[in-house]
Amino acid sequence: MCGIVGHFGPQNSVEIVLEGLKRLEYRGYDSAGVSFIDEKENLNVFKKSGKLQNLKDHLGEVNFTARSCIGHTRWATHGEVNDENSHPHSNNEIALVHNGIIENATYLRKQLQDQGFKFQSETDSEVFLGLLAVSRKKGLSFKETIIESFVQIEGNSAFVILDSQTSDIFAFKRGAPLVAGINEISSEVLVSSDPYALAGMVNKIYFPEDNVICHLSASNKNLLNFYEMDGTTSTRYLSKMLAIDAAVSEKGDFEHFMLKEIHEQPELIRSLTQYYFDGEGLESLKRISKIETSKIHISACGTAFYAGLLIRDFFERFNRINCTVELASEFRYRNPIIDSKDLGLFISQSGETADTLAAHTLCKNEGIKTISIVNTEGSTLYREATDNLLIRAGIEVGVASTKAFTQQVLTGRLFSAALEGVLNNEEEKKKLVNKYALLAERVDELLLKIDEIKEVAEKIYNYNGFFFTGRGAYYPVALEGALKLKEIAYVHAEGYAAGELKHGPIALIDHRMVNVAIIGPELFEKTISNISEIKTRKGIIVTIGEENNSELENISDYYIQLNLKGLDELRPTYINIVNQLLSYYIAKLKGTDIDKPRNLAKSVTVE
Ligand code: F6R
Repeated sequence: MCGIVGHFGPQNSVEIVLEGLKRLEYRGYDSAGVSFIDEKENLNVFKKSGKLQNLKDHLGEVNFTARSCIGHTRWATHGEVNDENSHPHSNNEIALVHNGIIENATYLRKQLQDQGFKFQSETDSEVFLGLLAVSRKKGLSFKETIIESFVQIEGNSAFVILDSQTSDIFAFKRGAPLVAGINEISSEVLVSSDPYALAGMVNKIYFPEDNVICHLSASNKNLLNFYEMDGTTSTRYLSKMLAIDAAVSEKGDFEHFMLKEIHEQPELIRSLTQYYFDGEGLESLKRISKIETSKIHISACGTAFYAGLLIRDFFERFNRINCTVELASEFRYRNPIIDSKDLGLFISQSGETADTLAAHTLCKNEGIKTISIVNTEGSTLYREATDNLLIRAGIEVGVASTKAFTQQVLTGRLFSAALEGVLNNEEEKKKLVNKYALLAERVDELLLKIDEIKEVAEKIYNYNGFFFTGRGAYYPVALEGALKLKEIAYVHAEGYAAGELKHGPIALIDHRMVNVAIIGPELFEKTISNISEIKTRKGIIVTIGEENNSELENISDYYIQLNLKGLDELRPTYINIVNQLLSYYIAKLKGTDIDKPRNLAKSVTVE
């Protein structure tokens, strides 16, 4: 989805904004542009459809320097992909970039045309430029101009605007992500739709609430001021100090962010229990342990939804709490039966997924308590939920979610453990901490045997299609495995409950089909029977299961052996990491764009 960046400060703003936009490439886009005031105080706009490199080539060898610049990567919604529809939009006095949708754009466009405003693009975003231009003519201050214009638009949006008269930047939003940051040493100020654009550049980060104006200006004592829409000073933002660590934005020795993120998992697992049992997270876990509810509604999208299926198993098994899991895009339009004592649980890496936010709003409107299991602190979900459990995965750059899934499931297990009273039971607490430590150790071991997984990938990558199957808690792992493979390797893959295959899909099985069979000790014999049904029909069998098992040895064409002992309810999460690696290596053999797969966006902010 669209990405926005703005910079103000002594360093060359054009370079900093281009670096920010480069980091936002992973979100998916089809054009890019920048606008800045050059040394002769002229407002420049450069924009190009296609990759960011096209824009850089268009900027050419000229060494532009500027103290303030705004930039955008566009994911087309209104108007086709071309240079005119790319952002920034400008009338030579004002330049703006926009993320979101102006829902009443058609109506406003007509009104503005009647008032003589000449549109240069087909976008809804340019409507806001029209509103600003009309207000400005009335002699209002820039802040007043923004306020008068912003109340006229409907829908969720974030804007970053450059005023050519002052070189000041204004940023504000409603229901869309926006983050601001300041580097107190070098006096740089940045805004973006994504904290990742700011990583390593700022030491203090701010998450403004809706309708707060961030004002980046040399005339501000602190360079960055916040205003309410009535012009008064605002304190409606969260702020956080950060260490400046440029390495968070780099791949290091890894070929892809996805591989780097898979490798980060052991350390993240270790630090999760530390955070929740000995660190700052303890307070939130304690608060959450006091919740009394007899029904939990889990809602999420994609990978986070599959994490929700595993978390439901924890609530059922350890807490005997009635729990439903639904795709947020469905839940939001049904008429779910919600009782005042129910609890809503929302799982999201970004905390900005439009459907998940809408499902959350539905629960809020029903007056029930809501909890988020979320990665991005300060995101909309984080701010709007009654309480939050952070998954502490760090920034996830690869579009295909890996470490976030693992941390979501593990945070969900800590939630269920807290409800079980584990916080007050030293022995149980120790058992759980040890189990997480064992999982981290096993993932370390798995990462040392990567060549075995690579070899299996080499054998199977050219087959026609893939069925990932599993039963019980291995079924969500099958679903997630198939999703990972299709999104990054562009091959057809389906996740199926192993026992369900014979009710239809088995018709697809022949010697050109691969069955990735996920098999734990639970329902072992029954799963073996399901695998036999596929083998009989000449499907290629890849099993992922307990090591040194003769039955698995006999039935498999390829057998990925794991030590599952002692992991108990964490086994599915462990096996899922094998699927992440298998998908990664199949995609690599296929030569796809692993970190930025076609058609996908990291954060899906439209429904
Ligand atoms: C798959 C993937 C998506 C996301 C989904 C929800 O690898 O990344 O399916 O899981 O778009 O995103 P969040 O978790 O940000 O709400």
